[in-house]
Amino acid sequence: MRRRSLAAVLLSASGALAAPLVHTADVKCPIVFDGRVPTGTAPTFFDTYATNTIFNPDYVKGNDLKWSQILQFPSGDASRFDGTNFTALEVTLSDKSIFQKQNGFRRAGLQFLKDAADGPGMKGVKTLHFSVKQDSARKLNLTHEYLSSNQIQFQTGQIIGKSASDKNNFKVLDRNVNSLYSVAQDAAKWQNFAITLNYDKNQVQIYYSTGTDALKSVAGPTSTNLAGGGQFQIGILKKPTGSSDVVNSGYQESNLNEGQIYGGMFLEDSANNCVSL
Ligand SMILES: *[C@@H]1O[C@H](CO)[C@@H](O)[C@H](O)[C@H]1NC(C)=O
Ligand SMILES: *[C@@H]1O[C@H](CO)[C@@H](O)[C@H](O)[C@H]1NC(C)=O
Repeated sequence: MRRRSLAAVLLSASGALAAPLVHTADVKCPIVFDGRVPTGTAPTFFDTYATNTIFNPDYVKGNDLKWSQILQFPSGDASRFDGTNFTALEVTLSDKSIFQKQNGFRRAGLQFLKDAADGPGMKGVKTLHFSVKQDSARKLNLTHEYLSSNQIQFQTGQIIGKSASDKNNFKVLDRNVNSLYSVAQDAAKWQNFAITLNYDKNQVQIYYSTGTDALKSVAGPTSTNLAGGGQFQIGILKKPTGSSDVVNSGYQESNLNEGQIYGGMFLEDSANNCVSL
């Protein structure tokens, strides 16, 4: 399994009550990797290197699926860093979401096209931004554990081997599964996260808000081990239940139809403490 990245999990509750509101927040710092998707982008844009200038078209997804089969473009309010020029996308899981021979997992994870294991994303001070929303038509099954992992993990559902009491929470964990921040999943609103990774000092700081609110620091800076490099991955990795070999075996229900909605994905350079709030 490729253990890299910070990833996230999300879904949408479409259909707000009123017409979509647009509150654009400005990106104030230099963008290192831009995962924001221009409004009107065709689903097939994501399928090949010839067209996809945003994400890696080959990773991390079901072997027999194209991204145009995996991604949905839900309507509804834009996330705060997307505004009118960029659009949300939903990463979905089905029974075909088996990457390589990882039969235990169901996966759909986006990687920034220009990211590399020893690239700029893992040096200096960088802040990963993403907003997530739940899709009432493609709910996650929080009896399972969902994550993306690397130096820092973004997780939801019941962590295997741990109590189910916080299964409805998003949890930001360090590589040793120590909690850095935890917040209840919201069924309807955008939940906005920014995670500053200070590779020079081995520190993490977490910012959070809901809806169109500005981000606020909610945790840290906390000392943690950020060594090792890797690539970011934003999407869903669903673990099975009932297995000690979660990569290769375990229980996943059939006719899977789950998703998470993401918006405002980008990595910015936080040298000189610059963080877009
Ligand atoms: C959206 O894009 C247009 C055309 O590039 C630009 O003029 C405008 O400033 C952008 N809007 C925002 C909110 O960034
Ligand atoms: C959720 O996952 C559990 C454990 O795999 C399973 O028993 C249950 O049927 C699933 N629920 C739904 C609604 O799929």
